[in-house]
Amino acid sequence: TGFVTLDTGFKNTGSTKSKITFLDGEKGILKYRGYAIEELAAKSSFLEVIYLIIYGDLPTHTQLEELQAEISKHTLIHEDMKKFFDGYPSRSHPMGQLGSLIFSLSTFYPECLKPNQTAEEQNLTIIKLLAKFPTIVSFVYKKSLGHPLIYPKNKYDYVTNFLWMTFGQRTEDYDVNPIVVNALNKLLILHADHEQNCSASTVRIVGSSDCNLYASVAAGIAALWGPLHGGANQAVIDMLELIKADGGDTEKWIAKAKDKNDPFRMMGFGHRVYKNFDPRAKIIKKACDDILENLGIDDPILEIAKKLEEAALTDQYFIDRKLYPNVDFYSGIIYRALGFPSEMFTVLFALGRLPGWIAQWKEMHENKEPIGRPRQVYVGETDREFVEIKDRK
Ligand code: CMC
Repeated sequence: TGFVTLDTGFKNTGSTKSKITFLDGEKGILKYRGYAIEELAAKSSFLEVIYLIIYGDLPTHTQLEELQAEISKHTLIHEDMKKFFDGYPSRSHPMGQLGSLIFSLSTFYPECLKPNQTAEEQNLTIIKLLAKFPTIVSFVYKKSLGHPLIYPKNKYDYVTNFLWMTFGQRTEDYDVNPIVVNALNKLLILHADHEQNCSASTVRIVGSSDCNLYASVAAGIAALWGPLHGGANQAVIDMLELIKADGGDTEKWIAKAKDKNDPFRMMGFGHRVYKNFDPRAKIIKKACDDILENLGIDDPILEIAKKLEEAALTDQYFIDRKLYPNVDFYSGIIYRALGFPSEMFTVLFALGRLPGWIAQWKEMHENKEPIGRPRQVYVGETDREFVEIKDRK
């Protein structure tokens, strides 16, 4: 009925009005709530950016302390949730576990299901998710190693607490390395939101049916997992390892990426919106050099990544299609330097993107948006006659 505009992949369809993130793909500009990403990455902490993205303004000192204190009350997860960790096969992918566990929060904290939550109730649902998410991510990691779980220590700030649960020893305090804490803060800030990307749009569309926050975010985790979206950060490292094992012949892999008969794509390259340098990639590349140097790490795949980037940026195929390195190209090299295995990279992306998903879900409610329900252009059969099964050929 009526006229339907076809836009597969929503390349040119605005689905909402938003005040969260501004992105100019031609100029390579990214801002959260009006603040340039470069400045936030250099001067802010992840918790400050969480506050900014979800509540709209940078917090005062008191507001930041209050947020930290509220989060600290909810960092534990229900003990029964630990049974899930025992149930997953030991080598199952952390993203599969994370999605299921976040979905399951809706069963352990069913107050999230209440329709028309008051502002306070909604905020408590949000705080619980912010508080439990890092705990769940760390538990997933610890279980993958077969190590005992490390419980949160509320004397630590948000990012340090996550590092403690992930890398700490049970009986000792975490030996806080400011280089690692700063690097992780920076990476998480750079991932915090990115307007109507695949996972954020998923969270909004699931939430638009009045679905609770935890299930909506679990849907976002599923969308993020794919290698064309957040899964690209793991795929980049896998690709660089492959190229290294293959003798480091970057030209050969560039040729493969250009070959339309070869399904291989240069992972960590290209973007739906950026037709210029991804501003996040610029910051991450510089951070990557600094962090590896400061930690005294010499990772041979960094050299391969740089060679690949250089070759791609001067190649006509990449120039014509405006394909530049994106956020995922160098982030994995940093995560690896901080001690994370590659299967954890997309989970770390999810941890960073959490405030964005929450803010998108919250804004969708504040805007009183209708249920998301795109149309289609039907191109299938019409008017067929039913044939009894015995007569079908
Ligand atoms: N390697 C080789 N060719 C590419 C690549 C690539 N990475 N990306 C795009 N192209 C080509 C593509 O084949 C097409 O060529 P042609 O016009 O000759 O058919 C042209 O460039 C346009 O690509 P597209 O697939 O139509 O663009 P899109 O906007 O639909 O896809 C993308 C965007 C990010 C999915 C894609 O660039 C890609 O697959 N990149 C690799 C995966 C990746 O790094 N994803 C992370 C994205 S950024 C962070 C995030 O979202 O999580």
